[in-house]
Amino acid sequence: MNPWPYSRWVAHRGAGKLAPENTLAALRLGAHYGYRMFECDVKLSSDGVPFLLHDATLQRTTNGHGTAGDKDWSELSRLDAGSWHSRTFAGEPLPAFEQVARFCTGNGFLLNVEIKPTPGHEAETGSLVAQHAARLWHGQAVAPLLSSFRPESLQAAMAAEPQLPRALLLDTLWDGWFGVARALGCVGIVCNHALWSEETVATVKGAGMRCLSYTVNDEWAASRLIALGTDGIITDRVDLFSPA
Ligand code: G3P
Ligand code: MG
Repeated sequence: MNPWPYSRWVAHRGAGKLAPENTLAALRLGAHYGYRMFECDVKLSSDGVPFLLHDATLQRTTNGHGTAGDKDWSELSRLDAGSWHSRTFAGEPLPAFEQVARFCTGNGFLLNVEIKPTPGHEAETGSLVAQHAARLWHGQAVAPLLSSFRPESLQAAMAAEPQLPRALLLDTLWDGWFGVARALGCVGIVCNHALWSEETVATVKGAGMRCLSYTVNDEWAASRLIALGTDGIITDRVDLFSPA
């Protein structure tokens, strides 16, 4: 098994629900709670700029409407991605992936980049996000961990930047997942935490891959995952779990 350079504890979307998800304010708050690794969701604007947003559409987490991937970055960068959460964060912008990269590399923080393509843009998103990640982390000791639920995105990331580590995200153990992860050269599997058992951990570890979980917000679940020997826990509860 290769050494694992990533943290056991990973702050989901920056700081879970304590700050507007996928913003720099969230990452800063997660860091304030002691987190040194973050998960974020990255997709493309219509003019090919990678930026952070979970949903395909804008209305839940910004003051915009419609499909985010249909807008160019100049429009997206002027949206308010903080007011929906609370007045404290009013005016917080959507961050470009590049800004998040600068924040992480400038502070020695690690990143799990979930490639979250707008439907229909799976390969293009995987390829471009990987190319930007390779450029932005050039010369850094630890590359970002690229993950996706979409094998097409990981395939394109592998074709573009094969040296960047990849992990397959699973919300179910669909037929063929293990072979797909192997074929994609994945270094890890990131599962819905309920899917980990002695059997699934042994299968994944037996292939030299690491076992990570999302989104773990209860102490009983975290204890179970640690006892199973899994390697990484993505949590919203940065206020409950201390990574130290
Ligand atoms: O990357 C782990 C987790 O973020 C996957 O689910 O929907 O929160 O992006 P989601
Ligand atoms: Mg995610």
